[in-house]
Amino acid sequence: MVGKMTITTATSTKSGAAAPRKKRVLGLGIESTAHTFSCAIMEKTGYDRGRILSDVRHVYRPDDGEGIHPREASRHHVEHAPGVLAQCLEESKTSVADIDLISYAAGPGLGPCLRVGAVVARSLASFHGIPIYPVNHAIGHIELGKLLTGARNPLVLLVSGGHTMLLAFLDRQWRVFGETLDITLGQLLDQFGRALGLASPCGRVIEEMAQQDRQPGVSPAGRGGNGTSDNYGNGGGDGGGNSGKDARRTARRRQQQQQQQQQQQQQQQQPPPPRYVPLPYTVKGNDVSFSGLLSAAKSAAKSDKYSACFSLQETAFAMIGEAVERALSFTGKRELMVVGGVAANKRLSAMLSDVCRRHSCRFFVVPLKYAGDCGSQICWTGLLESNVKRGAAMSDTFVTQSWRLDTVRVEY
Ligand SMILES: Nc1ncnc2c1ncn2[C@@H]1O[C@H](COP(=O)(O)OP(=O)(O)O)[C@@H](O)[C@H]1O
Ligand SMILES: [Mg+2]
Repeated sequence: MVGKMTITTATSTKSGAAAPRKKRVLGLGIESTAHTFSCAIMEKTGYDRGRILSDVRHVYRPDDGEGIHPREASRHHVEHAPGVLAQCLEESKTSVADIDLISYAAGPGLGPCLRVGAVVARSLASFHGIPIYPVNHAIGHIELGKLLTGARNPLVLLVSGGHTMLLAFLDRQWRVFGETLDITLGQLLDQFGRALGLASPCGRVIEEMAQQDRQPGVSPAGRGGNGTSDNYGNGGGDGGGNSGKDARRTARRRQQQQQQQQQQQQQQQQPPPPRYVPLPYTVKGNDVSFSGLLSAAKSAAKSDKYSACFSLQETAFAMIGEAVERALSFTGKRELMVVGGVAANKRLSAMLSDVCRRHSCRFFVVPLKYAGDCGSQICWTGLLESNVKRGAAMSDTFVTQSWRLDTVRVEY
């Protein structure tokens, strides 16, 4: 769980002021906005240099076909908080006494879940006299993304269950250049997946179902048709050898027949390769709308769920790609960074990296392990805030269920 990397991020430095601090600062970050309860410990060794020492998570899993039940998720968090915290301290070889500051995700998120993280943070902070920092969860995704990818001044695409936003940083605030007009990209995938009877969150399984014919050698088409079996023999052209040669040739032929039979059996068990089904495509300026796409994809899934998964991804990601392309042209940014749980999707990355190539723009995607919600996002943002703030008063350590990231002043 320990990331050995020491990476620098170009977090907007205070114009000429606040020189990088030399002191090693150790932070504990607590994430509990929705399905994940996570604690992470990081050390900051300069103004914007950091290292992950441990990042431990436990994820609430609703029953198949069900969404997150806030009360059940918060019970999950209460149950697992002590174990996650203990493991996090153990893996980082630290104790609470070593911690210089505690940060917790104060929103946006589900109220009952947010309160668990806040209570844990407040208890530790007040008992041990440690400064406490409430952190915006969405900003956490962005700041950790910058630390881990090295992006300096990117156009940010934040795609998760809670967000679908295109953002650029200007005058100490993240400005929204485009967003969803209804449900988020993560909700689109999760609601569609639940309609198929999948366990939430569903994005990864939908990605697998959509991929069926996309990897030669794994797909039904790749296995059967133009594989490498035609290279097995030597063309059978050396004719009439001795009996030893005949025996070898017969054995080889039998082996080939067995392999072909196995391939045929596998093909029969495999679903047919997905095909593209036209679905509603709604982009309005820089904004997208997914609700019509969701309804149509659910209908398409009644006849072929694999094609519906494939077509849903292709359509939704193309919509995002169009909005990104327009925002890149408008802002003139030379970097695109993708963060949030859906950033784990390889097809999305492939499409966006094509967009970046066309615009001579560098493409960054947060490492898979840190795409979804985790304590490191919260920890690192708290550590950055400690460059300019001494922590919040206990009376200000509340939670805000709908806390938009474009209302947050970024002073560090
Ligand atoms: N491989 C994937 N492809 C597409 N979506 C994914 C993938 N992995 C996770 N997701 C989606 O990411 C979302 C969760 O994002 P995350 O940032 O962890 O949580 P939150 O939305 O609560 O902030 C879910 O909607 C989930 O389906
Ligand atoms: Mg998230």
